[in-house]
Amino acid sequence: MKVTQDTGKRNTAIEGAQVRGTQEPGLLYSPGFGNEHSSEAVPGALPVGRNAPQRAPLGLYAEQLSGTAFTEPRAHNRRSWLYRIRPSAAHPPFRRIPNGALRSAPFHDVEPDPNRLRWGPLPPPTEPTDFVQGLVTVGGNGDVLRREGIAIHWYAANRSMDTRVFSSSDGEFLIVPQQGALLLRTELGLLRAEPGHVALIPRGIRFRVELPDGAAGGYVCENYGRPFQLPDLGPIGANGLANARDFLAPVAFFEDRDEDTEVVNKFGGNLWAADYDHSPLNVVAWHGNHVPYVYDLRRFNVLGSISYDHPDPSIFTVLTSPSDTPGLAGADFVVFAPRWLVGEDTFRPPYFHRNVMSEFMGLIEGAYDAKAEGFVPGGASLHNMMSAHGPDRATFERASDAELVPRKVDDGLAFMFETRWPVVPTGSALTAGHRQVGYDRVWEGLERNFRP
Ligand SMILES: [Fe+2]
Repeated sequence: MKVTQDTGKRNTAIEGAQVRGTQEPGLLYSPGFGNEHSSEAVPGALPVGRNAPQRAPLGLYAEQLSGTAFTEPRAHNRRSWLYRIRPSAAHPPFRRIPNGALRSAPFHDVEPDPNRLRWGPLPPPTEPTDFVQGLVTVGGNGDVLRREGIAIHWYAANRSMDTRVFSSSDGEFLIVPQQGALLLRTELGLLRAEPGHVALIPRGIRFRVELPDGAAGGYVCENYGRPFQLPDLGPIGANGLANARDFLAPVAFFEDRDEDTEVVNKFGGNLWAADYDHSPLNVVAWHGNHVPYVYDLRRFNVLGSISYDHPDPSIFTVLTSPSDTPGLAGADFVVFAPRWLVGEDTFRPPYFHRNVMSEFMGLIEGAYDAKAEGFVPGGASLHNMMSAHGPDRATFERASDAELVPRKVDDGLAFMFETRWPVVPTGSALTAGHRQVGYDRVWEGLERNFRP
């Protein structure tokens, strides 16, 4: 009996509360999902026992940033108190700037498309392009002004943002790096995200994206809806899937810089900019739970069947943005992490299916076990509401004849943004040169095997 060995492959970039392999000042973490974190970059900067003392310590300005309505239930309430060198309110007017290839819902470019769509990787930019300029929207759903739905973007950048800072009033950014590391300088501190990690920047928090290793690319789920949270575990118990302690928030780290800074705000689907005479990343201390974080996808505790059948992919949910209907997500973020397959008398790859939810998949590295070819790192597929999909012919034939010994699936890292409403593509995504127009052919040749 052949048993594939565990290669012991681990991503070592995040180790405990420290970040290995980097000397970046301020790059320290505070672990825990949804925690009430507290942090001060200068001793005594954080008020004790109250949020808004008559005079905040050290001459700082106190400011609350609300990620949920003041009155939402405590279990869902997100807000942080920031103690900063200058208040956010002190800024010049914003002016409209070009949106580039960034689009927002509602999407009316083209008619909703029932076809299965697939793309190769987004070509790298040929001009100097930062993270914001490098956002290219694939599609989405809902309505940005109603705080419902999502947009899915690619990003491809070859320069740091330098003197620019970005925030989205429209939604939180779940960033999935596929190539190159990102150093995210946020108002609350620094995060480093590499391929195999995800980073989340909450609605309204300003950040600058730097590229410590050069060119970078990946995917973004811009979630207009309720903030991502950990899924309930039900009979799984108190542990498992993504464990709360593996989510890492930054510690306070500030810039005291009176330099011209272009602050870009995404609002109502458009980009606006204002010219500040200082860096707004000037928060000396903060506390709260409306915080950015990073998570190493290889920390995901993969659960699955140890008897027969292939569980629904909801078993791989890392984060979920609930809707008003119990169990129905505005968006789920799902990872297909390395795992053992042991099911007896079972077709082990993902089964053929049609789904009321819509599925956008990306590949961070390696291969995905339902597609023998064509689905490549940096590429993507979109299987919209009720579109039929599943293993390609080669995968079906191989899996139908495979000897069902225990097997480790450890040759790739794929993920899915799954959403309750159809994803309407942008016109440019449909006509893009990297779209694989012959995608339907992967299901050609699935022959009639029926022999009554
Ligand atoms: Fe699917």
